[in-house]
Amino acid sequence: MELEALKKLVGAMTLTEKIGQISQLTPQFLGRQDGAITGPLADFPEAAAFVESLGSILGTTSREEVVAIQREHLAHSRLKIPLIFMQDVIHGYRTIFPIPLGLGATFDPALVEQIAQYSAKEAALDGIQVTFSPMVDLTRDARWGRVLEGTGEDPTLNAALAAAMVRGYQGDPEQLAQAHERIAACVKHFVGYGAVAGGRDYDTVDLSKISLQQDYLPAFAAAIAAGAKLVMPAFTLFEGVPATANSYLLQEVLREELGFQGLVISDWGAVGELISHGVARDQSQAAALALTAGVEMDMMSGAYISGLADLVATKQIPEHIIDAAVLRVLRLKNDLGLFEDPYRQITPTAALTEPSSTGRTLAQKAVAASTVLLKNQQVLPLQAGTRVAVVGPYADNRQILGAWHCAGHYDETTTLLAGLQASSLEVVPMAEPILGDPADFTNVDVIIAALGEGELESGEAASKGDLTIAAPQQELLRKLARTGKPVVAVVFAGRPLVLEPIESSVAAILYAWFPGTEGGSALAKILTGELAPSGRLPMSVPRSSAQMPLYYNQLRTGRPASNKTPVKYSSRLMDVLNGPAYGFGFGLDYGAVTYSNLRVSGAGNLTAQTPLTVSVQVENTGDRTVTEVVQCYVGPQVAEVARPRYELKHWQKIELSPRGQAQVTFTVTAADLAYVHRDLQWRSDFGAFTIAIGPNAEQVTLLQGHYLEANLEKQEG
Ligand code: BGC
Repeated sequence: MELEALKKLVGAMTLTEKIGQISQLTPQFLGRQDGAITGPLADFPEAAAFVESLGSILGTTSREEVVAIQREHLAHSRLKIPLIFMQDVIHGYRTIFPIPLGLGATFDPALVEQIAQYSAKEAALDGIQVTFSPMVDLTRDARWGRVLEGTGEDPTLNAALAAAMVRGYQGDPEQLAQAHERIAACVKHFVGYGAVAGGRDYDTVDLSKISLQQDYLPAFAAAIAAGAKLVMPAFTLFEGVPATANSYLLQEVLREELGFQGLVISDWGAVGELISHGVARDQSQAAALALTAGVEMDMMSGAYISGLADLVATKQIPEHIIDAAVLRVLRLKNDLGLFEDPYRQITPTAALTEPSSTGRTLAQKAVAASTVLLKNQQVLPLQAGTRVAVVGPYADNRQILGAWHCAGHYDETTTLLAGLQASSLEVVPMAEPILGDPADFTNVDVIIAALGEGELESGEAASKGDLTIAAPQQELLRKLARTGKPVVAVVFAGRPLVLEPIESSVAAILYAWFPGTEGGSALAKILTGELAPSGRLPMSVPRSSAQMPLYYNQLRTGRPASNKTPVKYSSRLMDVLNGPAYGFGFGLDYGAVTYSNLRVSGAGNLTAQTPLTVSVQVENTGDRTVTEVVQCYVGPQVAEVARPRYELKHWQKIELSPRGQAQVTFTVTAADLAYVHRDLQWRSDFGAFTIAIGPNAEQVTLLQGHYLEANLEKQEG
């Protein structure tokens, strides 16, 4: 439909129809039993009057349901405006991939794009038209359960992966109407949710504008530049005002600075929660605040449904604001081709019955790319025929999909034990409980201990204060260590955990996150070396929970501390060393990679027009093919405001054959040196900067003495 036709349609709608159109409810409000419930389910009787003109439904997981709801809706809708169906397709739909934090560990935008595309295809087959993904919140505090949903602590990595996910879900954003295997993407949570106080979900946020621009917005900017069709404001505050009512965020930043043209949909119940925040006295005021700030669709609070009609009648809200919001909803429906085909070519018969072999293969690849080998005392990979015992709470546990596993089925998920039983290893049956008697392990060469946290211990509303691996698991590992057999820990978790208490008991640690449907089979292949673990940490692994928040790119302080020679008046805790146990970007290979010959091209300085080329020689000195993530960090030495030592700007994920070598080249530009100044503008200053190249943020070789120079020719000219 042309824009004019859409505007005409808005003109033909009654106020009730318009209010319905900008409201989203779960199928329960249509008298249905099914549907995912992802927030508090309030009952608002006013909804009944709006059901026939409702704009959107969230949380369906079957095409039968979608077809039935749409059919019934169109039979009753006066203007025949189709519903739009949205769902949290976060890391897969039926085939579940590693959690987004695990996808962060891949450092591989192309793979992440492929995963999003595959997820879109499965979701679209079941009638989903919009996903509430990507979640691009910067995460620095592992106590926050929702770190699972993001890609970690680095703005540049987050931005690259945010854009990749949007491209994967949507394809060409202008062609969505024809692309029935793609769905629209809703980037969330705008913005700063990851900075919740104490890591407690939904808690307050106090963030500076500099950090907002520098750290929190880049991933949103990238997702929007990639064409994301929707944005969801965060539950939290910015400068005292909830994002849902924050016109600075939703107008000045989102619309004016970032140029967002799509639909703004509230988070679940967030409009009504303006009352609990204490900024609205009732639903009606909450509706007025949210709508005028720029929230165009109300998800599940009922505030628009119960408040807007009176606000218009009493002239507190001009109807044209509602019209503009309705038009935005209709444009999204039009972009998806819903007016031409409200079902987007789904039929109840061609059902999605199970994860396909393509999906499973892609999922295994994703597990290998996301699993991080943290430690390996020459025990992995295991030789064919090695006799292994598989123990621990996640050994034969299908609950390794992780939060937000959408339409994923546990009975389609392979456990680690099942994966190992199908491998070339000999799995020795174990009596439970494991008492740790060395005699029980006489016929065992290596013990594989599957540890970590439960699926419900991370995700939304799953923050926790103690990140240490659970006490019974520590105890189990102490017992296992006494057997004298090498112990390999496979850790399942939605966040970085404190591993310190088990370090001395284990010979190897594989950090598997929640790996999804193919977790068990892929991990078995990793353990035997058929697949190589190539993940790198997207979030620092702490030494202690007391370190939170912990991230490599923290601002420099006036009194930096040294772990080697701690001095009194320096920035540290007296009882915990500074810095991570395993830092950002860290991950080992089944091999040994050396870095040498770090070189800078030309005169070694750069100008706005002439970039600098930095190259490094990497060599695999081992006898297995490895995948290495070569990382390039950059930062000005002196800046107008405090800055981190350096930040990730470029990386390359490369494969090195046994004894293979490669020269890896990065182009460093003036833009890499840009940072947010006191006037909130991004620009780079002339002066000295640091380049740091290495396998992770801590083990870098520093290149100093290079300068961003004024381009004199240009200035004179
Ligand atoms: C979450 C969102 C999610 C929404 C819909 C909320 O509770 O914060 O991230 O998209 O529910 O399920």
